[in-house]
Amino acid sequence: CGIVGYVGLKDAKDILIHGLKKLEYRGYDSAGIAILNSKGVHVFKEKGRIAVLEKAVDENIAGTLGIGHTRWATHGEPNQENAHPHQSASGRFTLVHNGVIENDYKLKADYLADLNFRSETDTEVVVQLIEKFVNEGEKVEAAFRKALGLLHGSYAIAMIDNQNPEAIYVGKNKSPLLVGVGDGFNVVASDAMAMIHVTDQFVELMDEEVIIVTRQGYTIETLAGQKVERAPYKAELDAGDIEKGTYPHYMLKEIDEQPAVIRKLLMAYQNEQGEIEIDADIRAAIDQSDRLYIIACGTSYHAGLVGKQMLESIAGVPTEVHIASEFSYNMPLLSKNPLFVFISQSGETADSRAVLVHVKKLGFRTLTLTNVPGSTLSREADHTLLLHAGPEIAVASTKAYTAQIAVLSILAVDIAEHNGMDIGFDFTKELSIVANAMEALVDQKDVLEQMARDYLTGTRNAFYIGRAVDYYVCLEAALKLKEISYVQAEGFAGGELKHGTIALIEKGTPVIALATQYHVNGSIRSNVKEVVSRGANACIISLEGLNEEGDSLVLPEVHDALTPLVSVVPMQLLAYYAALQRDCDVDKPRNLAKSVTVE
Ligand code: G6P
Repeated sequence: CGIVGYVGLKDAKDILIHGLKKLEYRGYDSAGIAILNSKGVHVFKEKGRIAVLEKAVDENIAGTLGIGHTRWATHGEPNQENAHPHQSASGRFTLVHNGVIENDYKLKADYLADLNFRSETDTEVVVQLIEKFVNEGEKVEAAFRKALGLLHGSYAIAMIDNQNPEAIYVGKNKSPLLVGVGDGFNVVASDAMAMIHVTDQFVELMDEEVIIVTRQGYTIETLAGQKVERAPYKAELDAGDIEKGTYPHYMLKEIDEQPAVIRKLLMAYQNEQGEIEIDADIRAAIDQSDRLYIIACGTSYHAGLVGKQMLESIAGVPTEVHIASEFSYNMPLLSKNPLFVFISQSGETADSRAVLVHVKKLGFRTLTLTNVPGSTLSREADHTLLLHAGPEIAVASTKAYTAQIAVLSILAVDIAEHNGMDIGFDFTKELSIVANAMEALVDQKDVLEQMARDYLTGTRNAFYIGRAVDYYVCLEAALKLKEISYVQAEGFAGGELKHGTIALIEKGTPVIALATQYHVNGSIRSNVKEVVSRGANACIISLEGLNEEGDSLVLPEVHDALTPLVSVVPMQLLAYYAALQRDCDVDKPRNLAKSVTVE
């Protein structure tokens, strides 16, 4: 979910709606705003996208203070009642919330048993609780702090009081929230991107802090009432980077940006002598550890799998990769000196953060690879490596995935070279060749569009098969297709097919095989023959040099340690065109959110 707030001199509506549009990547099941003016609070909320809300907002209602919310449903189905903002029984307090309150039932039973609730949300409990404490005689600020102190779980909250046209009450725990500072106005946002059109000065809020935001300024206190001083920082975000430009979709723009991102990374991680160099402290942390534990979710997890391969084969660093939400509840036996490596485009994913908090408590060292400087996972880890991919807006991750793999390869090469190992190839030259190969592939959109037609039209399922590192790319290829075209897709290890999955192959089942690795080229081609003889509609995407007659697409030759950076590009485009051909909403697929700040 995403939160915005504005208190200033201008009409709040447009600023809030614009901000919510920039936060839609965090969820778009429903949306709402509340505007306070001399007549009271006016709440507008609708199921669906911000565009639906925008139409529903009464143009004649103006006010210079307001809050807004875009929702990714957790408690209660995405309908109008469950949309935020939520109000207290008397209507005095209006509140938006991002996160999950785990003890909402207990709070209801203990404090609010005689109240009728309008929604099924955990959020309504919070606003009712605050009103209850105010009714019992507490000042609003104290009631706000007291209620927040009772909450278990994660929250970012913004609240307005219709008896106070000067302030927005804000608090957070685990879910991200920033205050943007302006001249004669101040704003609240889950992410700087939402408010970069009005200010580039932001103040971070830490867990269990409360901040009162007024037109003139802000005051920060801990839940216990202790004052905190914190100056704003400048958000390095270019408003132009977050626009689509001439592209029909962010996803296509972001696919196209990949060669530039790789070149940028090469510059960012090279020293003046043109050698790859990462922060010496990070290198030392890796050298001192006996095993890396990569923790991530979704696409970032898939990048981690490729990264493991690189770290082990290039640098000889033992590495394990774990899904964050599994690791939390099913921790493996750890080595003596682990180093935890978090991979997260957004740097906000709650599942990954839960592991970070846990392993920090255990006293282990941590490193975050993220695209968002200043994000929670970056701030809270000992070290950060940035992905330099620029804002990624489409829900389906593309350029962040390749940037993650590129940074992991840079890390592997840096460690190997500092340990005196001969990696056997000119890495910077090979990475430049990768960028050129990506460029050649993004120029072949018509070929991929046709392949999507030939193999994915009208199908209910699809299989991607590969061996060795190609298998990991197949997992990502299948995820891309699932996410945006809703075709049931699976990535499989070629050799594993015969142990079960081949039972699913029937006449016309699409099977897309990847063949970029010399040592498994023969065996993956045998797997293709096995499925073809059972009726599959199969095609092979191969690397130049390993290609054979009849292959559907030949990827430009790149070093075999770096093939995932190139082989994933046609997979992204295949998913893109398959989704387009099905009239799916490419950038905002159903049920998903880009940044999932609940566990
Ligand atoms: C969400 C997104 C995925 C993403 C995953 C991890 O589920 O929809 O695209 O891969 O979160 O996000 P992160 O920001 O941690 O990389």
